Amino acid sequence: MGFPVTRPRRLRVSEAMRRLVRETELNAGDLIYPVFVTEGTGVVVPVEAMPGVNRFSVDTLLSEVERVVAVGVPGIIIFGVPAEKDEAGSGAWAADGVVQRAVRAVKERFPDLLVMTDVCLCAYTSHGHCGVVQQGRIANDATLEILARTAVSHARAGADIVAPSDMMDGRVKAIRAALDAAGYHEVAIMAYSAKYASAFYGPFREAADSRPQFGDRRSYQMDPANGAEALLEVALDLEEGADIVMVKPALAYLDVIYRVKKRFQRPVAAYNVSGEYAMVKAAAAHGWVDEQAVVLEMLTAMKRAGADMILTYFAKDVATWLKEK
Ligand code: PBG
Repeated sequence: MGFPVTRPRRLRVSEAMRRLVRETELNAGDLIYPVFVTEGTGVVVPVEAMPGVNRFSVDTLLSEVERVVAVGVPGIIIFGVPAEKDEAGSGAWAADGVVQRAVRAVKERFPDLLVMTDVCLCAYTSHGHCGVVQQGRIANDATLEILARTAVSHARAGADIVAPSDMMDGRVKAIRAALDAAGYHEVAIMAYSAKYASAFYGPFREAADSRPQFGDRRSYQMDPANGAEALLEVALDLEEGADIVMVKPALAYLDVIYRVKKRFQRPVAAYNVSGEYAMVKAAAAHGWVDEQAVVLEMLTAMKRAGADMILTYFAKDVATWLKEK
């Protein structure tokens, strides 16, 4: 039944027609806005490689979150940038740590906003790795208890969702057990399940001051060449109790998003990471691409691939654009 009987262009003749048959819709409700919080008061420090993104102290963060809430973005994910680091990363689970204070302040002021926290050690350790270092290696099992303690401290502060991004084996199970033992049955886990050792995290490491001081993250984050392995990571995390699984980065990994959604049919998050943001910002600043059009196309593609939600530094802008349309 080819041409002339079948004419796909019939369904593209007008905006009303295109809208009628549109398969994928991007909504403000799909978006999660990442924020960086640091010590002090009155702090707003721009992140050079991420125009429009700043590090905030807890007080200025509240004004930023107010803007996020005003445009209808349902959730934020908080990254801590502590003033002091040590070998063990002890700032990660401190009851009065920067993330814990930020969570309390945000939940008090905006109780309906979903507050997520990144659970990792890299911003808190002097060596900048995501786990405990023993004999120059990242020790998997010794890290689990610390991650669990960190997650519980976030839950105690009021986090709705904890998001482990360290890529240690077995961390979802350890975190779920610790949350349940502490009575936080309703705190959900969004696991960075298929997290690749990616060059696209460059600008984030400036923002979070979390660059590894020796070596790289390839002994724990995934090899970008692997797709089937992502399905194993996701299967394990779901078995261990993950409520939402994430693929990160997003743009260069749409095939992974697609495979994960197709295989497991569980909530999938895509992380539109710092390097993806920086590339668009840089090209748009030169007038080489239309920022709004490119961003909407990219995020729509992530949803078309199978993502249910997207973590993106464009969340505020996208929600604003969608409102204007
Ligand atoms: C912490 C973490 C990273 C990102 C999110 N959580 C950096 C890394 O693994 O080096 C990257 C986010 C981004 O690039 O936007 N482990």
